[in-house]
Amino acid sequence: MGVRQSAGQKSGRRTLSAEPATHLAKLPPPPRTKPKFLVCSSGKGGSGKTCLTRNLSVFAAHAGLKVATLDLDPQQGLTNWFAIRPEEAIAIPNVAVPLADLSRALREVEALGELHLVLVDTPPGVDASPAEMRKLLLMADFVLVPTGQGAGDLRSVIEWMRFIRREERPSAFVLNLTVRAAGSFDRAKQRLIEAGDLCPFDIRLYESIRVSDEIGLSVLEMKGANGLADLRGVWGFVRNALGLKVASDE
Ligand SMILES: Nc1ncnc2c1ncn2[C@@H]1O[C@H](COP(=O)(O)OP(=O)(O)O)[C@@H](O)[C@H]1O
Ligand SMILES: [Mg+2]
Repeated sequence: MGVRQSAGQKSGRRTLSAEPATHLAKLPPPPRTKPKFLVCSSGKGGSGKTCLTRNLSVFAAHAGLKVATLDLDPQQGLTNWFAIRPEEAIAIPNVAVPLADLSRALREVEALGELHLVLVDTPPGVDASPAEMRKLLLMADFVLVPTGQGAGDLRSVIEWMRFIRREERPSAFVLNLTVRAAGSFDRAKQRLIEAGDLCPFDIRLYESIRVSDEIGLSVLEMKGANGLADLRGVWGFVRNALGLKVASDE
C-alpha cells in the first residue's frame, strides 16, 4: 500500500516541515519597528520645550505607548524633573546625554529596546552644536517649535522655522504661555501662520503648569489642574501628525 503524498510533495515543492531546523536559526530576527522621533526645539530659551516634552511623554505613556525621552540639554531640566517624580507616577525611561554627543545618545536610546515614540528635549539655543542639531532635525519625524507670543520670541522661532523647512522636516509652531486677551496673541498667530504650520491648540499661561514642573508631575497627573485641555489638544495634534495609533483607536 502506497503512502499518501500531499499536493506539495507530489509537485516537488518543499513543505515548511521539510526545512531543516538549522535553516530557521539562520533567519534574521524580524525587523524592529523604528520609533517615531518628536523633537521639541526653538531658537529661544524659556519657551516651553522641556515643559512640553514632560507633559507629552506622560500623555503618550498613559495612552499605552512605549515611550522614552531623550534629554540633550546639558542643563538637564528634564532629567531633574524625572528625579523628583513620585514613585507611583508612570515610569518613562529617560536618556540624558548632551547634544554634542548625539551618536552616543542615540545608541543609548536604541539599547532601551522597542519603542513607539521618543520625545527629544533640546538645549535652550540652537547654535551650540549646529552639526548635531542638523543631524537630529534630519531624523525627526516631527519638530515642535514652542514659542511665547511676544515679538522678541517670534523673531527667533520664525528664523528657526525657516531652517527646519529648508530641511523639509514636518513641523509646527505651538504657542505657549499665552494670554489670549492680549492683542499680541492674535498678532502672533497671524505672524506664525505666515511662517509655518501652527498647532491649533495654544497652551495658556497657568500657575498649575509651572507648579507641576516643580513637583515632578505632569498636568495630566494633577487633580483639577488648569491647562489640561490645552495640553491634551497639543497631544492629539502631535499624535495625529506622527500617525501614532493608541488602544482607544481600535
Ligand atoms: N503654559 C505655561 N504656563 C505656566 N508656566 C509655564 C508654561 N510653560 C512653561 N512654563 C514654565 O516656564 C519655564 C520655562 O519653561 P521650559 O519648559 O523650562 O522652557 P525651555 O525648556 O524652552 O527653556 C518653566 O519654569 C516652566 O515651568
Ligand atoms: Mg529646557
